[in-house]
Amino acid sequence: MRSNTRGDAFRITTFGESHGPAVGVVIDGVAPGLPLDEATVQAQMNRRRPGRTGLDSPRAEPDRAEILSGVFEGLTTGAPVCILVRSVDVRSGDYENLKNVFRPGHGDFSWLAKYGVRDWRGGGRLSGRETVGRVAAGAVARRLLDRHGIRIEGAVVEIDGIRAATFDAAFAETDPVRCPDPAVASAMAERVRKARDEGDSVGGVIEIRVEGMPPGLGDPVFRRLDADLASALMSIGAVRGVEIGDGFASARLHGSEFNDRPLPGGGFGSNHAGGVLGGISTGQPLVMRLAIRPTGSIGKTQETVDRNGQAATIEIRGRHDPCLCPRIAPVAEAMVACVLADAWSRQAGIARVSPTADEWALEIDRCDEALLVALARRLDVSAARDRAAAAGGAADRKPPITPKALRAAWVRRARELGLPRDRALAVLDAITGSSAPSRLPTGVRPGTIRR
Ligand SMILES: Cc1cc2nc3c(=O)[nH]c(=O)nc-3n(C[C@H](O)[C@H](O)[C@H](O)COP(=O)(O)O)c2cc1C
Repeated sequence: MRSNTRGDAFRITTFGESHGPAVGVVIDGVAPGLPLDEATVQAQMNRRRPGRTGLDSPRAEPDRAEILSGVFEGLTTGAPVCILVRSVDVRSGDYENLKNVFRPGHGDFSWLAKYGVRDWRGGGRLSGRETVGRVAAGAVARRLLDRHGIRIEGAVVEIDGIRAATFDAAFAETDPVRCPDPAVASAMAERVRKARDEGDSVGGVIEIRVEGMPPGLGDPVFRRLDADLASALMSIGAVRGVEIGDGFASARLHGSEFNDRPLPGGGFGSNHAGGVLGGISTGQPLVMRLAIRPTGSIGKTQETVDRNGQAATIEIRGRHDPCLCPRIAPVAEAMVACVLADAWSRQAGIARVSPTADEWALEIDRCDEALLVALARRLDVSAARDRAAAAGGAADRKPPITPKALRAAWVRRARELGLPRDRALAVLDAITGSSAPSRLPTGVRPGTIRR
């Protein structure tokens, strides 16, 4: 099972379960010399942590990030960076009544069907707590991207059908449900509160925007940037759909509406493609949206089955978010950061090679060889022509061409090919000797001479 690691050049491996002693991440491929401290990581951890707003899970985890390796005197050393977060507010007793039943909307049944053994405490490895490691890795990735002017912002643009019309990321950062539109923020929060009071849950849509993108990130065909982003975002629990740019709406547009027109001097007239064409970044902002399902754990009594397939009813106590969107937005930003850091590091590994002096010399030798072969063929053809003329054959009846006309045709063709006139005429003289032939070789007419 190697599904806990992703990335090539910037490679993350997350570890830990919801109610285990700790969760975290090991990051391999962090460039040496990058300034990194726990406060930088902590700032991102605080954005994901539960129990902050009253509208999320009351599980009170401080989520203190400890850097265990890979950093010395404030700089990354090139060694793997391990970040550990200890879990302190664990109440596995809340799950005691759920250990033999399958919670609707959760992976309890499918995990057991696959592995035959299950950590039932708080969702085990499938818990949202696993994403602590992702956010820590994202903080490191962001450090790298910051240096290149790449900025990632996320917000919750829809909850329970209420949609944001504007995208003010700074406002979203202060808002309990991370809504980027002050006009609808309280309506969104009200829907979350209502769902919570009714023992229910709601879903929504998160939008992630990346500014300062360079063109050229992403590797066709299987590591297309859009494919990598979609896969990374879909790997977050509760994400049920990902679209890039106009996404599904593009299926209803015409080409004349969808195509982003490149502008003279750089840039594009629109961004329907969401910043990626051909799987490679265009330099336009990246725009992604994630569909988030309603939280599986709800307060209402639900019908289900137990491990023996017998009908059962459950009531989920535990501590849960009635809407996962505000918690998932920082996780999604972190995954985007990791994908971009990986793509950036892979790109840095693509050194564009220039031919060496020896390779240039070899190439010129090949050209000279081709000239000699062409000359040999020309002499053969003209000898054959002369033999045919001596025998009174067809070649003798070809229309004559004067040396002057041949010269003019030669010069015209040389100009078309961008050759200097004197160099071209020197070649003609070398081929024909001092006296140009009165006729072109069989099948060749003035203006059709090719190099
Ligand atoms: C940050 C985060 C927090 C989550 N918190 C909860 C939660 O409190 N209750 C819950 O039922 N699901 C929660 N989830 C979602 C579940 O992990 C997820 O729905 C479940 O494992 C089933 O996976 P699926 O929805 O991707 O099929 C959370 C997910 C994330 C990313």
